[in-house]
Amino acid sequence: MAERLALTLSPPAMVSSFGTHAATSSLIVPGTSAAAPSTRLSFSSSSSSTTLASLRFLRSSPPVSHLFLNSKKRLPVPLVSERGLSAAVTPKCVAPDPDQLKGAREDIKAILKTSFCHPILVRLGWHDAGTYNKNIQEWPQRGGANGSLRFEPELKHAANAGLVNALKLIQPIKDKYPGVTYADLFQLASATAIEEAGGPKIPMKYGRVDVTAPTDCPEEGRLPDAGPPSPADHLREVFYRMGLSDKEIVALSGAHTLGRSRPERSGWGKPETKYTKDGPGAPGGQSWTVQWLKFDNSYFKDIKQRRDEDLLVLPTDAVLFEDPSFKVYAEKYAEDQEAFFKDYAEAHAKLSNLGAKFDPPEGIVINDGSPESAPEKFVAAKYSSGKRELSQPMKEKIRAEYEAFGGSPDKPLPTNYFLNIIIVIAVLAVLSSLVVN
Ligand code: HEM
Repeated sequence: MAERLALTLSPPAMVSSFGTHAATSSLIVPGTSAAAPSTRLSFSSSSSSTTLASLRFLRSSPPVSHLFLNSKKRLPVPLVSERGLSAAVTPKCVAPDPDQLKGAREDIKAILKTSFCHPILVRLGWHDAGTYNKNIQEWPQRGGANGSLRFEPELKHAANAGLVNALKLIQPIKDKYPGVTYADLFQLASATAIEEAGGPKIPMKYGRVDVTAPTDCPEEGRLPDAGPPSPADHLREVFYRMGLSDKEIVALSGAHTLGRSRPERSGWGKPETKYTKDGPGAPGGQSWTVQWLKFDNSYFKDIKQRRDEDLLVLPTDAVLFEDPSFKVYAEKYAEDQEAFFKDYAEAHAKLSNLGAKFDPPEGIVINDGSPESAPEKFVAAKYSSGKRELSQPMKEKIRAEYEAFGGSPDKPLPTNYFLNIIIVIAVLAVLSSLVVN
């Protein structure tokens, strides 16, 4: 059984093309909930102890063990049940619930913090969407972001080696939020990983409908090869089939600013380098950049400079600086991170929608983080003159004084004409005496 597990995780096609590797790769995976303590999951074709550790983990994760622990004896060919990994959750066509999507996003963020799995989640989303064929009208035959990658026939494609680990990481989130489809969850995980790694905000929408059976998986061979005879032609053939342009090919390749290549999975890269030997996360593999958990434009800078043998440059990476049309964008992105972020965000959102069937057809957008609390109402200070109402005794006292000389606080005093005449006469007398003297 141990051997069977190891083979399942290292697709025979890949192993035969690149030779077998005794190297062990491991990945920190969480328990059955995002908050549960992490478990180190190890895969090996030679070590029985690590394989036993794998089995222990798999037993603790019902949906995945259901998929991989069935021996031929217990489950006839095909190995996977007709419902595959989704056996625990039957996908239904229900309107997406923004609260569940937001909850799932928070749980993805929690996993990212503990497992450093940003790169593999990005790859998961890309490989589900990247099977799209614009020349096929029918859904799901046209492929794309429809959740088919959860089924074993597609997981076993050589290009998807290792992605079962990504699926195991997010299966507990799927179980917790059954209203979120796999197709949405894969894309949500990928976009969240980019943003959490410091990348641009991706203008995502949700509501993707899931395919329901392994028979809905696309045929093998729709994803790009890393070392084809003519890399530029190959990239155009594959990405044009998805309806993507040269600019989008170059921008999306910039996702390799994150992550590593592992020889025991894809056959590419070194078993470890000075940048990967200590993790973070599971050690090993060869990264394209020094800080391979940080999303920035260093992928383009590093390929251009080819400054370090410990950094990976696949033939399909190198051609971005060789092909005249690709080069225009690659040079621009090496110089201008803002331009890269802008084009990447648009291209990523487009990739995430390829082939998807949305319900509702226009999709839904989830806003940022927790609902914003309504701003506190601004209350302006009230003007106060300091005046106070006079007390009753004071009012009466004033009235009495007015009335004493014939007046009243309610009406002006009557003019005293006699007094006015005396004053005028006195003033005149003074003035005339002054003139005479
Ligand atoms: C242009 C054609 C592409 C080729 C030939 C290619 C090839 C590869 C290969 C060989 C690996 C190593 C896998 C392993 O050993 O585990 C890899 C990893 C990766 N790829 Fe690509 N890729 C391409 C495009 C993309 C795109 C468009 C994206 C995302 C938008 C992407 C995201 C990633 C990420 C994040 C990793 C790291 C995974 C990890 O560390 O687990 N790639 N790619």
